[in-house]
Amino acid sequence: MDSATAGREGALPGFGPDAGKGEPSLLEVTDVAAGYRREAVIRGISLCVEHGSAALVIGPNGAGKSTFVKAVTGELPLLAGSVRLRGVDVSRWPEERRTAAGVGYVPQVRDVFSGLTVEENLEMGGYRLPRRLLRDHIDQVVDTFPTLKPLLRRRAAHLSGGQRKLLGVARALVPQPELVILDEPTSNLSPRIASTVLDEAVSALCAQGRGVLLIEQRVAVALQRASTVLVLVDGLPRHSGPAAPLRDKVDLGHLFFGRDAAPGAERAADPAPAAAAEP
Ligand SMILES: Nc1ncnc2c1ncn2[C@@H]1O[C@H](COP(=O)(O)OP(=O)(O)OP(=O)(O)O)[C@@H](O)[C@H]1O
Ligand SMILES: [Mg+2]
Repeated sequence: MDSATAGREGALPGFGPDAGKGEPSLLEVTDVAAGYRREAVIRGISLCVEHGSAALVIGPNGAGKSTFVKAVTGELPLLAGSVRLRGVDVSRWPEERRTAAGVGYVPQVRDVFSGLTVEENLEMGGYRLPRRLLRDHIDQVVDTFPTLKPLLRRRAAHLSGGQRKLLGVARALVPQPELVILDEPTSNLSPRIASTVLDEAVSALCAQGRGVLLIEQRVAVALQRASTVLVLVDGLPRHSGPAAPLRDKVDLGHLFFGRDAAPGAERAADPAPAAAAEP
């Protein structure tokens, strides 16, 4: 992380080996509203992400989870509230500037270039880096995800679903972001592969001291990896707090709609998609 932050254009003050020690939160979102064509889809959303931990955002389809992360990355303008990165107000910064300052983003869709090889995708992820750093960073990312090592010359179009998701995450990691935003990294994966992706990605990132903002439908598995959880329903915060108390009782009906879990709620939490991909 250090070599990248040292050379990163637009890096926030204080990024580096001592990041997070007695410092403001890595990400602090306060009372944010955002939406489309100036109409708010989400309102009153607040959340913090600390170094070395994952904050989980969950909610039914259409709740506004992706809208929320787009407000954090700068893809969508804020209609109210603020976004701070390590204490610096970046609310009006364009997306490129937030990226350069240490925000990595793996979108829900279009996460890799199918026509390029794994190695070329990783190079694209670090296109801003000087050549000598790029090689070094790609090597480090491949060390983090050894699954990708034998696949470097394979076209992304020929990867399995799980390998493709890992590549999407790996590509976002090449610039060595401080904050990694993952929007449903396990969608369309089988439960087994989804667990592997969450283990390899989220656990590795937290162990490296990065912060993770994770959107995930597999609530039960994701709660095991996350420190905090925010429940979004109809664009509003329904619950926010530590993840630990929810780990043993994932009652989505109650969590999402304030009622007792309907039969099959656990399946709704961790669905086994019809088009599940195996490596
Ligand atoms: N580009 C857009 N223009 C207008 N409305 C949009 C756009 N993208 C999303 N929306 C609307 O905003 C609301 C929230 O969508 P969003 O994609 O943020 O939900 P989500 O929680 O990520 O859902 P999912 O779990 O299905 O990914 C939905 O009503 C959706 O129709
Ligand atoms: Mg979404």
